[in-house]
Amino acid sequence: MSLVAEPVARAVQLGFAAWMRSMQQRVEQALDARLPPANLAPARLHEAMRYAALGGGKRVRPLLAYAAGELTRAPAARVERVAVAVELIHAYSLVHDDMPCMDDDVLRRGRPTCHVRFDEATAMLAGDALQSEATLVIVEDVLADDPARNAGLLRSFALACGSRGMAGGQAIDLAGVGQVLSLAELERMHSLKTGALIRTAVLLGAGCGEPLDSAEDAALARFADAAGLAFQVVDDVLDVEASSAQLGKTAGKDAIQHKPTYVSLLGLAAAKARAAALREEARAALAGFGDRARRLAEIADFIILRHH
Ligand code: IPE
Ligand code: IPE
Ligand code: MG
Ligand code: MG
Ligand code: MG
Repeated sequence: MSLVAEPVARAVQLGFAAWMRSMQQRVEQALDARLPPANLAPARLHEAMRYAALGGGKRVRPLLAYAAGELTRAPAARVERVAVAVELIHAYSLVHDDMPCMDDDVLRRGRPTCHVRFDEATAMLAGDALQSEATLVIVEDVLADDPARNAGLLRSFALACGSRGMAGGQAIDLAGVGQVLSLAELERMHSLKTGALIRTAVLLGAGCGEPLDSAEDAALARFADAAGLAFQVVDDVLDVEASSAQLGKTAGKDAIQHKPTYVSLLGLAAAKARAAALREEARAALAGFGDRARRLAEIADFIILRHH
């Protein structure tokens, strides 16, 4: 079986930007191969699934899975399934997040949102079916040879997507519209709606490889939690500071929709300071891994320094 360590070891000579591009291409190809063809009945549904998942996005969750797999010398085929599965869940969450019953957005990844390009019922079903496709990818073969370890990884994946993870965070987000949340409540919402899937990308990517000791496990979880929270803090900041053209989605919507965000609660400067502190926390958590965690550290930098 080929190892992530092989292609990535060659890629170590690459700068981060080139590595990122090559991993983005890799997950794009894997998603393309995985999703049912657009002409297969029911064609409109398959077309909508492919529209939502292909041809855009930063692919941060797959990048994290690949980088975490590099850390534990995980078999490439296993890590690839994690990368595809987390991105399919992410794509489904975006389709539903954009629907009129949620954030009511018309622009995503520089194109009309799925329900605008197709229709609401098709978008809803595309989200449902992307989620199911993610499950198929993740269970079609083992992620770890040890059955108990494999079951634990599948369980943590399911938990991250559901009401104790992403979907639960989205529910808190919607219930929080027009409310002033405490910092702890806001942090919990962000850690669930965005952090949970990022955490699972890291922990499952790593989980496909050689087991870590308990201190290393804890350090990797600290990294994942800091990176996941930072991702949403920066998303909140960019909603205020960046343009729709830069983001490929409508800027300035959080304030218009009275969303509870880091910026609405703390102000722009404090939100940026929090993101910078989380970057340090994420990097510090990786210190014990040395060069094996280089790509993860670079992704943490990218998460905080990005402009889109
Ligand atoms: C946007 O996610 C939604 C959040 C969870 C903040 P991304 O910023 O990762 O969106 P894409 O995949 O790059 O389009
Ligand atoms: C979305 O958060 C989190 C998800 C689980 C999709 P946002 O609603 O802030 O994401 P954007 O700004 O629309 O991408
Ligand atoms: Mg939302
Ligand atoms: Mg939204
Ligand atoms: Mg946002």
